[in-house]
Amino acid sequence: MIIKTTPILLIIFMVNVYLVSDVSASNDDLDTLNAEAMAIVKKFAGTLKPQLKAALESGGPVNAIEVCSTQAPDIARKLGIESGWDIIRVSLKARNSHSAKPDAWETKVLQEFNDRQVAGESAKKMTHSEITGGEFRFMKAQGVEPICLSCHGEKLSPPVYEALQRHYPDDMATGYSLGQIRGAFSLSKKL
Ligand code: HEC
Repeated sequence: MIIKTTPILLIIFMVNVYLVSDVSASNDDLDTLNAEAMAIVKKFAGTLKPQLKAALESGGPVNAIEVCSTQAPDIARKLGIESGWDIIRVSLKARNSHSAKPDAWETKVLQEFNDRQVAGESAKKMTHSEITGGEFRFMKAQGVEPICLSCHGEKLSPPVYEALQRHYPDDMATGYSLGQIRGAFSLSKKL
């Protein structure tokens, strides 16, 4: 009896060891991918925000709209080439209807971000990542801060409103208040 069951137990034990070590290896990979994605997001925000601030200070929001509309896609493109990741910004209420409309997966995550924010979580560290369709996908929420309100808030000055309408006739990205989720960085990498 003992002789008969020992090989079976041994096989079960080995399969277990294999499965456990496999899971921990892929957790390491996930940690690396998450860290890589987060570093790209920091670089994106860390490049765009100072440019936005400088443009606001030197020429006011109408001038800064020009900076946002050219610099933001440019930074995303350059970072994409440099890193090999696909990088965009998306929103449930897109300003740039050509680049910022979320796909089904992004829509679901943005809705979850909204729910998490309403439940009291700050956007500062709000992320979600998943392996889906042979890709690693990562999103980092962008919350509304005071500096955002002149272009995404409830009350826009008439010149800002006019400039936005000129560039983005189907703009939906206004009416936000502090702390709300404005959108998210969305990154993906083929595995
Ligand atoms: C000077 C005006 C201005 C300010 C201030 C501003 N934005 Fe924007 N925002 C824009 C413009 C213009 C676009 C469209 C950029 C493009 O064409 O890719 C945009 C696009 C975005 C997008 C991409 C999704 C979309 O709807 O097109 C996000 C996310 C975003 N802004 C978040 C923020 C956040 C967060 C802040 C504050 C930290 C902020 N913005 C401040 C003008 C502004």
